[in-house]
Amino acid sequence: MIRKTLLFALAMLSLSACSKDAPEFDDYDPARDYFTFANTERFVTDHLELDLDVDFQKREFRGYAMLTMRRLDETATEVILDSRDLDVASAAVLVDKNSAPARFRFGETDELLGTPLIVTLPPEAGESFVLVLEYATSPESTALQWLPPELTAGGKQPMVFSQSQSIHARSWVPLQDTPALRITYEATIRTPRNLLAVMSADNDPLAARTGEYRFEMPQPIPSYLLAIAVGNFYFAPLGEDTGIYTEPELLDESVYEFADTQAMLETAESMFGPYEWGRYDLLVLPPSFPYGGMENPRLSFLTPSLLAGDRSLVAVVAHELAHSWSGNLVSNRTWRDIWLNEGMTSYIESRLMEVIYDVERANEERVLGYRELLGNFEQVPEDMQALAPRMTPEAGEDSQGMIPYYKGQLFLESLEAAFGREAFDEFLNGYFETFAWQTVTTETFLAHLEQDLLNTEGAPLTRAAVEPWLYEPGLPADAPVPVSSTLDAAAAASADWSSGAMATADIPIDVWSAQAVIHFINSLPQDLAHEKLADLDAVHAFSETRNAEIARAWFIQVAARRYTPAYPHLEAHLNRFGRGRLIAPVYQALAENGEDLSLAREMFERAKATYHPLVVMWISRGLDQAPG
Ligand code: BES
Ligand code: ZN
Repeated sequence: MIRKTLLFALAMLSLSACSKDAPEFDDYDPARDYFTFANTERFVTDHLELDLDVDFQKREFRGYAMLTMRRLDETATEVILDSRDLDVASAAVLVDKNSAPARFRFGETDELLGTPLIVTLPPEAGESFVLVLEYATSPESTALQWLPPELTAGGKQPMVFSQSQSIHARSWVPLQDTPALRITYEATIRTPRNLLAVMSADNDPLAARTGEYRFEMPQPIPSYLLAIAVGNFYFAPLGEDTGIYTEPELLDESVYEFADTQAMLETAESMFGPYEWGRYDLLVLPPSFPYGGMENPRLSFLTPSLLAGDRSLVAVVAHELAHSWSGNLVSNRTWRDIWLNEGMTSYIESRLMEVIYDVERANEERVLGYRELLGNFEQVPEDMQALAPRMTPEAGEDSQGMIPYYKGQLFLESLEAAFGREAFDEFLNGYFETFAWQTVTTETFLAHLEQDLLNTEGAPLTRAAVEPWLYEPGLPADAPVPVSSTLDAAAAASADWSSGAMATADIPIDVWSAQAVIHFINSLPQDLAHEKLADLDAVHAFSETRNAEIARAWFIQVAARRYTPAYPHLEAHLNRFGRGRLIAPVYQALAENGEDLSLAREMFERAKATYHPLVVMWISRGLDQAPG
């Protein structure tokens, strides 16, 4: 039962798969990245220079990647890079402006990890050298979605965007694709003249549309934060250091929705120290963007499904902004430590929501997260429920769902509760200062926690008390339980209305937050009659809601209960959005309701041409493994 539902529910982190040479658990090294082929103990990269043509006809990037590398082991002559579906035409080594050709070959392809690219260095290469690779991407690149004009808001120009996290940078750049290393980068990108290129770098809001764009990223970043998008993008400012790139059709709406971004940035700085990256801009992409948001430095990528018209879903912006500290400034050493990125970011996201909106709004979102977490504990195998599990490509098969996010957040909230907000904020500030521009493992975090908090005089917690959070499944018995009075009221209304004690028209939906509406829907009892659902939809029009998260909650219920009158709207939802979170659980609910697996497959066939390659992978795996 557990396995069957997993791929759907957990696809979001999607490191799942089936590598052959996974190491033994006994030798598990928590500081080693098992998701790269790169021999980083022998060579490291300090800088990347890209020179790429963006070809929409062929759906390929073509050009050069130049890696400035250092040899750590003087006897080493073979550099192993990560790649996936890359066509490499030549390799050479630059030493003092002279070029010496280098031999290269591909190793054996692994379905999850891609293909090692092995370069034999010529004798000219010294301790430091530039490795020049001439290459092209494949139209199947897992990181890139090539959108025909029909899939954009404007409908006239094509678009392409990347999603490198976690291990897809290697499908558009040959490199050492591991969060354990940091590189600076620069790029020259040539595009059709009427389109604009933007990257996770120093975008210029005033850039002229010349078809040739130069970028620099002087702050060192892990490879998963390499990002690019090319499309009919225009810019609008939000505040002094913040603004929005998107298609002109979405610009006004986006400016309204994300108007609080500058305030979020200033609040975050006042709490966690200076923002180290220069500008902070948003890029609002088409609906096929597979995530809610992606924290590409200086330029968070966002789904347009956040455009609810009432700023109700902007916690995602607070989240991506928060990654500028937790994740981008201090990064997880390997994907096994992803809670350090996502849990700490979810914690900070809530803190920002308290200040920008109010404590109740933050608590509503905490409760929704907590509910999701409890659901995940029922689906994720126990050995993947620890914040710091033993994660190898093989063990990662079940991934962790949202556990790194909400269990991680709850862990930090429990520390805050124990030590007090002031002391905990001081600890976090010290953590960001100490580990800025570095990568950390859970064990490094724990050592720092011991030093700064646990070992202080009169500390209310010991190391033994916090270890279960990190190494054991589920939640410790004394874990905090988030509470929201408005969500309690929504749950009570759900029960009252279901039992007939409250009339449909009296459900105070119009005065509720979107989060309360979602909680109301999530709290509906199992055995609700279809007439009740019909009544609810007739009066409150959930099937036609503009709010993507309300729609998600509603259509999960519609599918789970086989409320077929709403199926046309459900299918419209599956066609409107391509963000995995919004659609995968709806497919899952259809596939698991006992009747609609083939209908789910048909709907997927009709919709999938509009989906991102990663989302196609997640949903088809889920449907392939569904029972029945
Ligand atoms: N960095 C993540 C997205 C991600 C995680 C991509 C793991 C690939 C692998 C991003 O910051 C994120 O967490 N997005 C969430 C936002 C939400 C939890 C507020 C999303 O997309 O839903
Ligand atoms: Zn995140």
